[in-house]
Amino acid sequence: MTETMERRSCEGVLPAKRNQKGYPTEEEVPASKTKRVDPAQALAAARHEFGEHGGVNMSIEASATFTVMEPETMRRMFSGELGPDRDFFIYSRHFNPTVLNLGRQMAAMEGTEAAYCTSSGMSAIASVLLQLCSSGGHVVASRCLYGGTHALLAHFLPRACNVTTTFVDVSDLAAVRDAIRDDGSTSVLYIESISNPTLSVADVPALSAVAHERGVTVVVDNTFAPMLLSPARLGADVVVHSITKYISGGADVIAGAVCGPAKLVNSMMDLCQGSIMLLGPTMNAKVAFEISERLPHLSLRMKEHCHRALVYSTRMKKLGLKVIYPGLEDHPDHHLLKSMANPDYGYGGILCLDMETEERANRLMNLLQNAVEFGFMAVSLGYYETLMSCSGSSTSSEMSEEAKRSAGISPGLIRMSVGYSGTLEQRWGQFEKALNRLQDSPTALNTKI
Ligand SMILES: Cc1ncc(COP(=O)(O)O)c(C=O)c1O
Repeated sequence: MTETMERRSCEGVLPAKRNQKGYPTEEEVPASKTKRVDPAQALAAARHEFGEHGGVNMSIEASATFTVMEPETMRRMFSGELGPDRDFFIYSRHFNPTVLNLGRQMAAMEGTEAAYCTSSGMSAIASVLLQLCSSGGHVVASRCLYGGTHALLAHFLPRACNVTTTFVDVSDLAAVRDAIRDDGSTSVLYIESISNPTLSVADVPALSAVAHERGVTVVVDNTFAPMLLSPARLGADVVVHSITKYISGGADVIAGAVCGPAKLVNSMMDLCQGSIMLLGPTMNAKVAFEISERLPHLSLRMKEHCHRALVYSTRMKKLGLKVIYPGLEDHPDHHLLKSMANPDYGYGGILCLDMETEERANRLMNLLQNAVEFGFMAVSLGYYETLMSCSGSSTSSEMSEEAKRSAGISPGLIRMSVGYSGTLEQRWGQFEKALNRLQDSPTALNTKI
């Protein structure tokens, strides 16, 4: 990238106050990588935008395009001389003030220099990989990933871009080290902080150290653990989110974000080389406004999701069910998660129940939804209602049988995103009732409701 290109797009994502290099001064970065900061505190310390007429909520800049007073200004904006930091906007596929503001909030929450928001989690992931990798490039990735990301890395990127991936067990640091190629073609280590759906926890500090030894950029999908884990503060370079999930919380929008160094985020917005600017998955300003209004209560929502998931998984285990939850002492990554987690959030809002066969899993979900109204059979997560799906035949169905086996996805694995509607005891009573009915007719193929 030429210096002009970098300067041209760099204006938009940075706070107004700069040091000489153009990057935020230390006090402007809400949470430096070296300090443990509560993401809720960092978010509250970020600039609050008021509405045009003094409203407590910011105004929505719903324009696709922006006018100028003088024709010369247009040329100066396109040359990069005038940018969003001085309130000059060109076109909303590039920067939009409302989306930019959400990016500032996301950067504050994750403790990164910058962030920009996208139209989906997948577009955030694809855009960052396309920005960091060139044709002939290579990625090392965890073998436990969301099915869509797995398919992007295993099938789409090799075919469309000649970018290949080696999938490894990222709990084996030596395997990660060995998978990084000596010829310098490996540019990214891609992991999920808590993996979908198997709930294994990535050792972000150790993996970042291994990757950084070899000049590899660490990208962490933190969709399962906003607030409770801060991968960038633990050493990762880039954090991606499917905002669709917990951050939205309403199961009503599809959205994503890339949080990382200002240089990377700016490069993604570059007029000539930027993956977000040129492929176009920018976020709509109305969606950005909606999400900005929900971020301030994300910490409260996460605490309740996590609390209920811990109570339910503890009780399920006592009942003899095979439950996977990193908050349980016997989960192999319990202590690792405890060592990395931000205090007082808990261990995540997702638990898995291994019912061993798809048929048993389906019967339990059928009872939970249709007999006792405990939750909904639906993919996705982070909603206020409990959502349940059998991962192997739904959100991980893109993976081959072998890939599922090596990721630890059994055919009867139910992923349960624990909601917080109703009271905890009301919901638990419903769960127990469904379980009793399942046990009363253990072999009936279609449990009658
Ligand atoms: C961990 C994870 N990352 C990314 C995505 C993709 O996000 P979106 O559906 O917002 O594109 C998902 C979707 O389920 C996910 O679970």
